[in-house]
Parts: sequence; C-alpha cells; structure tokens
Amino acid sequence: RAAMFSVTLAKERREIRDLEAEAAVETVEKVDLSSQSNDPMADPANRKFASELGKGNAIKNTSMPEWKFSATTKGQTPGRRAHMSIKAQRESLPVFTFRNQLIEAIQQNPILVVVGETGSGKTTQITQYLAEAGFTSSGIIGCTQPRRVAALSVAKRVAQEVGCVLGEEVGYSVRFDDCTSKDTKIKYMTDGMLQREVLIDPDLKRYSIIMLDEAHERTIATDILFALLKKALKRRSDFKVIVTSATLNADKFSTYFDDAPIFTIPGRTFPVKVLYSREPEPDYLDTALATVLQIHLMEPALGPSVPDLLVFPVYAGLPADIQNRIFELTPPGSRKVVVATNIAETSITIDNIYYIIDPGFFKQNSYNPKLGMDSLVITPISQAQANQRAGRAGRTGPGKCFRLYTETAYHSEMLRSSIPDIQRHNLCTTILMLKAMGINDLLHFDFMDPPPVNTMLTALEELYALGALDDEGLLTRLGRQMADFPMAPSLAKVLILSGELGCSNEVLTIVAMLNLTNVFYRPTEKQEQADQKKAKFHDQHGDHLTLLNVSWNGIITQLLHVVPERSRCVEPFAPGFFRNVGRRDTEAGSGGYKTLLERTPIFVHPSSALFGKQSEWVIYHELVLTTREYMRWTTSIEPKWLIDAAPTFFKLAGTGGTMSKRRKQECIEPLHNKFVGEDDWRLSAQRC
Ligand code: CDP
Ligand code: MG
Repeated sequence: RAAMFSVTLAKERREIRDLEAEAAVETVEKVDLSSQSNDPMADPANRKFASELGKGNAIKNTSMPEWKFSATTKGQTPGRRAHMSIKAQRESLPVFTFRNQLIEAIQQNPILVVVGETGSGKTTQITQYLAEAGFTSSGIIGCTQPRRVAALSVAKRVAQEVGCVLGEEVGYSVRFDDCTSKDTKIKYMTDGMLQREVLIDPDLKRYSIIMLDEAHERTIATDILFALLKKALKRRSDFKVIVTSATLNADKFSTYFDDAPIFTIPGRTFPVKVLYSREPEPDYLDTALATVLQIHLMEPALGPSVPDLLVFPVYAGLPADIQNRIFELTPPGSRKVVVATNIAETSITIDNIYYIIDPGFFKQNSYNPKLGMDSLVITPISQAQANQRAGRAGRTGPGKCFRLYTETAYHSEMLRSSIPDIQRHNLCTTILMLKAMGINDLLHFDFMDPPPVNTMLTALEELYALGALDDEGLLTRLGRQMADFPMAPSLAKVLILSGELGCSNEVLTIVAMLNLTNVFYRPTEKQEQADQKKAKFHDQHGDHLTLLNVSWNGIITQLLHVVPERSRCVEPFAPGFFRNVGRRDTEAGSGGYKTLLERTPIFVHPSSALFGKQSEWVIYHELVLTTREYMRWTTSIEPKWLIDAAPTFFKLAGTGGTMSKRRKQECIEPLHNKFVGEDDWRLSAQRC
C-alpha cells in the first residue's frame, strides 16, 4: 500500500505545484450562455455570416464590431482582484449579494438546486456561508467535485480565505490522499470519495449538508449519489442537499428531486456573437485552419502589418510545463491561438480569449460492452457543449464564436445535452459498490438516466466471472473484499491474490502505476525517440514488469532481470484479467493477435515491450481503438494460469488422454455458453 500511495501522492503533489504555478488560472470552469442577449437568432449578423472558406473566399462581414485588445477589458479574474483583501474579494463575487436569501432558501428546503455562472462563487463561498450560518454545529459541510485536482485547489483556496491551515477546519479528501482532521468542518472531496463513504455509512450521519457541485458534469459517481442522497434524505429530516448546475439541466435536477426549488445567481459575462456556417463544411480541420487565418487577418481590421501568430496546443496528456505555455502573456504585437481538445471547454480557463472556433466535434469515450473495449470516437457535440464553447469567448470582453456547422445542424442534429457517463461506461466498479451497499434490485434503482440494460448485464456477468457474485447474483466474500478497493474490481482481485502468491509489493507497485494516466509521454512528433527511451526499461515478459522496472532504480532492475521468479509477479493478473486474453494470429503478421472470447483482431502497440516478440499468449490491461484496436499494457502468460485462475471460464479443448500437457494448453477455449447464452442473459436480468 505504501508503495502505491507514495507513487500516486508524488503525482498529486506535482499536479498541485503545477496548479500553484498557474496562479491566475481557475481550474474548473463552466460558462453558460442561456441569456436572451446571446440568442443567435436575434442577431442579424449571424444570418449574414457565410463561410465561403471552402471555396477559398474571404469572409466579408464589415458589420462586425471592433474592439481593442487591452488589459483594461480584463474581467473577474483572480489576477485582477489579487490586490484586494480577501474580505473584499469575497464580497466582490456575484453570489455575495444573495448570501442571506441563499441561506434562507437552504434552511427552508431539504434540497435546493443552485444555478450560477462560472466564477460566481458557488464552490468557494456557499460552504463558508453555511459554516457562518451555523450548519457545522450538527455535522460537517461536504462539497463534492467531479475532478480531484479541483477538490484540492478549491480546498486550498477556501482554507486561505478562512485563514486556517489546509486540513484543519477546511480539508479535502481524494483517492489516496485524505487531508482532513477531527477539526475539519468544511470538506471538499471527489464525488467518488463520498460514494465510498456511503458504503460505510448510508445515512452520512457525519454530515449536516452535502453540496453536489458541478452536477451538470454528470459523472457516474455524482449520478449514483443523486439516488443515494435522495434515499438518505428520506431517512434523515436534519439532512440537506444542494445541487449546483449550469443552467441547462437545472429543470431536470429539480424534477428528479421532487420539484426542488431552483435558486439562480445572475452572472456577469459579456455578450458573445454566434456565427454559423451557411453550408455544412466537408472538412472541419481545413475550415478551422482557414478560419483562424481569416480571423487573424480581419478581426479586428488591421493596418498594413499583420501581427505574429503564436500557436499552442493543449490537451490532457500534455505535460504540465508545456500546457502552461498557453497561460503566458502574449507579447505585444502578436496574437495567440490555442488549439485545444474539450479540456478547454470546461476544465481550464485562459484569459483574454475573444474568438472561438467551434468545429462541432469532440472525441468521446465510448464503451463497447460486447468487446469490453473503450474507444475514442469523433462525435458531434451537444448544444450544451456548443454553448459552453461559445461562452469561453465572453469572459474578459465581448466575443465572437464561429461555428463550423449550420444553424439547422445545431437545432436538429445536436442533442440538447451530452449523454451522461453512466450510459457510456463500463459499470463493473459501480455495480460492485451498489451490491456491497446491499442494493440488489438494480433494475429499479432510482437512476436519473438509467444505463442500458446490456451494460448492466455485462457488468454483472463480469463480476460473476471474477467471483465477486455468486450464482444468485449476490455478493461473495471475495466480492465484499474487492469492493473496499477504490479501483476496478479486476485490479482489486489482483491485489488481493498477490498476497497469496507472495508478491504484494511488486503487484502493488504495478497496480499503482497502472492507475496513473501518463507514465510514458509519447508526443506524436517524437514517438520514435520516446519509444527508444522507454525501451531501456523493457522487460522481456511484457509491460507490467516494465512498469515495475520504471519504479525501481537501475541497479535493482539489473539484478532483478536475472531472478527467475520475477515473472511470477504477473501471475496474479491472470485471475483478474482472464477475459483480456489475446492469442497470436500468425496470419495477421507481426504483432497481430485475436481476442480469445470474440476472436476480434487486436494488436501489440509499437511502444510495448512485447512489440516484435513472438509470445503465443498474452493478457492486456485494456483495448484502445485508435488507428487499430491496440492492447494497452500487454504481458505474455502461460495458458495454464488461465485455467487455474478461472476454471469455470475456460476448458481444455479436446481433452483426449493422449495429448501432451503442452498440447492441451494450446487448446484452451472459453466456455462461452455458460455466460452469454440467451437463457442465461434472461436469468441474469432477473437477478439484476
Ligand atoms: O464555483 P464557481 O465557479 O461559481 O466560483 P468559485 O469556484 O467559487 O470561484 C470564485 C472565485 O474564487 C474565482 O473567481 C476565483 O477568483 C477564486 N478562486 C481561486 O482563487 N482559486 C480557486 N481554486 C478557486 C476559486
Ligand atoms: Mg464551482
């Protein structure tokens, strides 16, 4: 455990340091553009805008207003308010005007939906108002955040405002890092952490009030908490819940919580002019580039000299120091262009953005329950996302948003809001936790938006195969143990079994590394170099032991290479990942495999330690579809491990007595029908 914690903590601390370095940057932001003044239809300029870019013509729209780029247009940013006292800063926030009404509304209602634009002070102020109004006399004030980095930074800010050491009156709790004490009265935490607390205490007796913040993000944990807190409210008359949201979903939240009142905090953003393409664009990338240049040359209309154009990328996988370049001040006489994924839609805010180019797409994680595979798919955004994007242009002055799609597409082809995570992800971890809470009737669970039945069945079947559920669909002893680990059930099982095989330390390290997102940085333009550096750590057995090599210093690694038992460290992965088995497909060429269950072609990733090796059998941590279906974290295994690990899942094909042991192992087969036959699905459905 210590190893796991220290690796994760080190990363966490790095993230906090990076955040601190970004002093003037708010980390989690939402802008909503629902006010009438921003109605695209109301503005005749929209109808004038026609993207002729595809035909190589310039946009000619002289009616567009011009404005200067100067520091005086800076808005409500921490940088600008830095000179104010903390008290003055707090009182300058939009929410402050409504302090007393807000407290009153909370006192009078068990559930209150609070709506307010980013930066209005919901996250940092409401908890303090509640403390000041005496809510801490009967318990803790809890506030959940979908992202751990947000929980940490916001707690830090509030501790500073309250004037206490972080972890005393104001603290935070995120996975692998609990910074609270017995004195903690205001606690920021990830929604996942609160979900875990419900497992131990379903009524959340320690808390007087919980604020489910950023509820519009609709993470799985927040969605589950909606139902769990609704239940707790029925049992505890002294308990209160606040749900904060961007405007768009507020009605939906209110309806779900038995028509709870909605409290709106008016915001202070600038108008954003929205312009649509007249025709659908055949190539959004081309059009986006052309539009950048158009804006650069024409907005505002310039004299004879054109300023320099500085281009910065930003995406989650980019190392923080490179990411931070987007926040640097633009030198005089130049203009900055940030090319961003949807990270810039909500998670980060860059000052002085006046133009948004919105191609109308994003890469969405999509889970295929049949293949057990996650893939990033280029998907049209929702109207809510489109408005979110446009809003980024209106934070520091009036802005413009160029939508590279038609107005008709916006109204008729885009969903109103995005599909919540719970309908798009593997639900194994969530269902195991619900089972551990004694919730067995999942079909009648009070989901705001229920997940597809197939996704639930796949999760139940997976938990059954892992031994977490018994034939009746009830939690086993092992299942209960697995539920205590804050990670995927497959990894939890691996950790539990590693003890029996005497390699807990090694497995803990590997599991901790698997939980990190970005161990190896592999930028597109330097893939070969990155792979060469990584190859120094490669282990002949595969990527899991490679991860172990990374975490240990060179001398130990060299010595370990000669220890024959080392490969046994990956053995406990077989009982957790026996569904993720690939068998070499000689016809598919080098690196080609097929999944054992569905016989889908899959490939060893070029950066893997097993690339170019001829391992017959491999297990992988997950499949990721990019240009091909690649295995991520691949390790060669002995097939007998699979039979030992999951005897109900595999059989030896044609087990005639004359076969040699080796031959038998090559004929391993999954017992398909035991789990996925029609009848069994129905059975599972009943259990579920
Ligand atoms: O939750 P909401 O977006 O309504 O606002 P908030 O997060 O409470 O932020 C209110 C103000 O607090 C921001 O405009 C920042 O000036 C400041 N803040 C900060 O300095 N550091 C943070 N980590 C969060 C907020
Ligand atoms: Mg907030």
